[in-house]
Amino acid sequence: MIKISPSILSADFSNIREDIKKVEDAGVDLLHIDVMDGAFVPNITFGQVVIKDFRKISKIPFDVHLMIEKPERFIEDFVKAGADIITVHYESTVHVHRAIQLIKSFGIKAGIALNPATPIECVKHLLNDVDMVLIMTVNPGFGGQKFIEATKDKIKQLRTLIDERDLDIDIEVDGGIKEDNIAEVFKCGANVFVAGSAVFNSKDINLTIKNFRRLTEF
Ligand code: DX5
Ligand code: ZN
Repeated sequence: MIKISPSILSADFSNIREDIKKVEDAGVDLLHIDVMDGAFVPNITFGQVVIKDFRKISKIPFDVHLMIEKPERFIEDFVKAGADIITVHYESTVHVHRAIQLIKSFGIKAGIALNPATPIECVKHLLNDVDMVLIMTVNPGFGGQKFIEATKDKIKQLRTLIDERDLDIDIEVDGGIKEDNIAEVFKCGANVFVAGSAVFNSKDINLTIKNFRRLTEF
C-alpha cells in the first residue's frame, strides 16, 4: 500500500487550516512540509515557528523536508515543533551521517534526500541508519516543475539495493508526480508519493487522492 504525502508548498497559506483539513479528509498518510533557506535552494519558505502552529491544527504525521544548509543546526527545533519524519539532503552537510544520528536520537524517523544528479551510491552506507530515502524527481526549490525522467533509473537501483538487503526502508519521490505518471514511478519501486500542485491545484482533492491509490493498485 502506498503512502501519499501532499506538499503544502502549493497550498493557499491565507487559507491553510482549510487546505490541511481537505487533505486530511481525503485520507492522506502524511503531510509534506518543505523548509527552504534561500541558500541550499533558490527559494525561501518557512521554519520551525510556523510548523509549530501547523501542529496545533493537524494530527497527520509531519513529513518535514529540510532544504537548508547544515541542517544539524536546527534538528532539535524541528523535533520540538512536531516533526514525525525529518529528511535532510545528502548535499547539504559534510556530516550527513551525524545529522541522521541526531534525528534518530530524538526517537523520530530519519530520511536522506538525493538531488537528481546525486547517484544512489551515496546512500549505500547510510541504509542501515535511515527509515526513508527521498529521491528528488525535480531540482528542489519550487513546486509545479516537470518530472525528470532520468530519475526513474535511480528509483529502480535503490529498490534493488533495498530488496537485496531485505531492509524496511521507504522510497519517497518528490517533484512532478501526477495522475499520468504515478503508476510508472510506482512500478520503478517508489512507495511514498509527494505531490504538491497535483493535489492543491486539483478541483476535487478527494478524487485526485483516490485516483493516486487506484492507479497504484496492481
Ligand atoms: C520541491 C519540493 C516539493 C514540491 C513538489 O523542492 O520539495 O515537495 O512541493 O511540488 P510538485 O508536486 O508540484 O512538483
Ligand atoms: Zn519536498
